[in-house]
Amino acid sequence: MPIRLAIFGAGRIGQVHARNAAAHPSVEVAYLVDPVASPGRDTLATEIGARVVDADAAFADDRIDGVVVASSTDTHADLVARAADAGKAVFCEKPISLDFAKTEALAERVRNAGIPCMLGFQRRYDASFRAVRDRIASGAAGRLEHLMMQSRDPAPPPASYVRTSGGMFRDTAIHDMDMARFLLDEEIASVYAVGSCLISKEIGAAGDIDTLMIVLKTRSGRLAQVTNCRRGPMGYDQRLEALCSEEVLWVENRPQTTMRTARPEGAWAAAPMNYFIERFAQAYRDEMNAFAEMVETGSRPLADLTDGLEAQRLVEAAIESHRTGLPIEFAPDWRPQ
Ligand SMILES: NC(=O)c1ccc[n+]([C@@H]2O[C@H](COP(=O)([O-])OP(=O)(O)OC[C@H]3O[C@@H](n4cnc5c(N)ncnc54)[C@H](O)[C@@H]3O)[C@@H](O)[C@H]2O)c1
Repeated sequence: MPIRLAIFGAGRIGQVHARNAAAHPSVEVAYLVDPVASPGRDTLATEIGARVVDADAAFADDRIDGVVVASSTDTHADLVARAADAGKAVFCEKPISLDFAKTEALAERVRNAGIPCMLGFQRRYDASFRAVRDRIASGAAGRLEHLMMQSRDPAPPPASYVRTSGGMFRDTAIHDMDMARFLLDEEIASVYAVGSCLISKEIGAAGDIDTLMIVLKTRSGRLAQVTNCRRGPMGYDQRLEALCSEEVLWVENRPQTTMRTARPEGAWAAAPMNYFIERFAQAYRDEMNAFAEMVETGSRPLADLTDGLEAQRLVEAAIESHRTGLPIEFAPDWRPQ
């Protein structure tokens, strides 16, 4: 018997997850749910052999084993809660909700319901980022002491996306907060963040920033530094440097091609892969395969709902630091005021 899934959201990332799920040999995507009718939604449904239905029909079907929540951020919490009540496994895109208290309450509800719930932190499934984690965890690199991460989009998103995204900290920096937790694997003791709106007047008018830096310090004094920007003059920029006691580890951008040219005036190399769908294509496939495996066998994913909650806790502290201009003393039970 195949695993039967319902996919919520037929937008940018919903299409990626729907196609990856449909390509899995043990998965049948039975339903596609998106209340906004569009040719893209209907073409996708036809392509993956799914029926377009409303949320009630998807949750009422006992033969649905799991749901993929890839809809707009402000809909995640309600859909995950409904999945918990219906006893269905969940894959939820980040962030879980825009309200930390709601995220905490939802995590409790999901725990009580006992459903398996995976979070869409695909960088954990990327071969390069994962190799860094494995190298550090093996002890071969020595102690990770200083972590630097750069995540920069090629260009700002439309203001309409910004308004429902929860802002740059919750939308973008949450990936870096998760990666910091994944690699440091230690309690965070302080969070300091600064941000500016340097690029897009529309983003500023929507009350958001487009450029930010975050500094984390662990209990034992190890440091992580994150820079995020809504514009990357060289394209999508996803790099990392992990300074360890025995060696330095890097994740570099992946070029669109590996061809390089050189002449007396200088050298030229291809630009990085353009944006997340291309750069993380294999990671998205691997995380959807992990979701199918979780539904089928109960295996643990690399990122679960608790990881989503804890990355959001760090993000909320960063927002408070940005708002007050002060470093935030952080503890495992820290909550926004
Ligand atoms: N992990 C990643 O790399 C990654 C990348 C992009 C987006 N995301 C996250 O995925 C989510 C979607 O982002 P996107 O870029 O695809 O946005 P998008 O705007 O392209 O698509 C969102 C879709 O959700 C639909 N939708 C709205 N309400 C719905 C509901 N109640 N039920 C079902 N569908 C509904 C919309 O009609 C739209 O088609 C966001 O939360 C975003 O933060 C994650």
